[in-house]
Amino acid sequence: MITFDFQKYQYKKLEQYNLDDIKERFLKDNNMSGWYRLERTDFDRILDTASYIRANCDVFLVIGIGGSYMGAKAVIDAMSSYFSPSKPEVVFAGYQLSSDYLTDLLDYLQDKEVMVNVISKSGTTLEPAIAFDEILTFMNKKYGEKASSRIFVTTDEHTGTLLELAKEKNYTRFVVPDDIGGRFSVLTPVGLLPIAVAGLDIEELFYGAEIAKSNLKDCYYYSLLRHELYEEGKVVESFDIYEPKLASFAEWLKQLFGESQGKEGKGILPVSTINTRDLHSLGQYYQEGKDILFSTVLFAHSNATISLNQYQKTLDEVNEIAMESVAQAHFEGHLPSSIICMDEISMKNLGYLIFFFEMSAMLGGYLLNIPYYDQPGVNGYKDILHRRIKEDK
Ligand code: PA5
Repeated sequence: MITFDFQKYQYKKLEQYNLDDIKERFLKDNNMSGWYRLERTDFDRILDTASYIRANCDVFLVIGIGGSYMGAKAVIDAMSSYFSPSKPEVVFAGYQLSSDYLTDLLDYLQDKEVMVNVISKSGTTLEPAIAFDEILTFMNKKYGEKASSRIFVTTDEHTGTLLELAKEKNYTRFVVPDDIGGRFSVLTPVGLLPIAVAGLDIEELFYGAEIAKSNLKDCYYYSLLRHELYEEGKVVESFDIYEPKLASFAEWLKQLFGESQGKEGKGILPVSTINTRDLHSLGQYYQEGKDILFSTVLFAHSNATISLNQYQKTLDEVNEIAMESVAQAHFEGHLPSSIICMDEISMKNLGYLIFFFEMSAMLGGYLLNIPYYDQPGVNGYKDILHRRIKEDK
């Protein structure tokens, strides 16, 4: 279960918050709204492939950047133990250009049974392309002709270099639907295959998303509230977590909102904190710095019971009191907070939040009157990088 508190630490009270008209317009106008349908595309094949992968490798390597890996990592990290990786272990690459990372990764994979999922909708993004090239050499050397049965490609159905290669080498393929963009793709094969390989219940994830879709009241309130705060000069939204396992979820949120809404000189800048750690660093700015911030707290209760005898409370209770104390202190310092509270970190709750925030990102983009599905700024850096990389030294 998830509860939403948009009142206790907010100065604003919204009277009218039905955004159904916007939802209807977006469904009618937009050809990238496939995520809203929540279709279980290729579900059975994903489950069968995941079982096969789980039985045949120690490490499942996911190669992708941005929306092509962040959703899967968000869910897997949130559901994993801090100290014992899932079996098979799911690791990620192709989201930076670090030589050390790739070298260490290749060393790590040396004595492991490996399977690879390369994910790129365009099939041309530099970072995953470079990582995949190196990994392919490794896989061919390690497995020879059998390498092709250990490589899975998730890409566009019709075009791209990756698609051509997948066809030529006969790699198992999954499709990124035409009408779903990267950062909205976690509930497609892009996110679902790695999540299922980690042994997590993707049906529950969908179930949670469907519950969110069936009741958009809180989502409408949140979308309108953050827009009104922005109009009043609060141009930075901080996603504050009190459970470090949600750090990748916060990264996914920053990508979802940042890439969707930062355009045409507009948009709320999404940032995040991991508390209580960051109360001893950024907390000072939040309390007394420039008045540009509002907070969206993502609190998750824990199922683990650690009793703190000296306080007659559990550690989870103390964590919640810390969260409430921070919200109160910030509120007195003119920083309003909304509190979204999960009774536990579960697939159902994560599915709910994925849909809730995807919807909010779309509605927020609509309220800002910007094209929320593209990312021309990202293409800007890509173009220059591709040009400069070919220049002589
Ligand atoms: O959300 C998006 O659309 C982007 O973050 C893309 O996912 C990212 O740029 C990777 O693109 P591709 O999947 O084409 O490699």
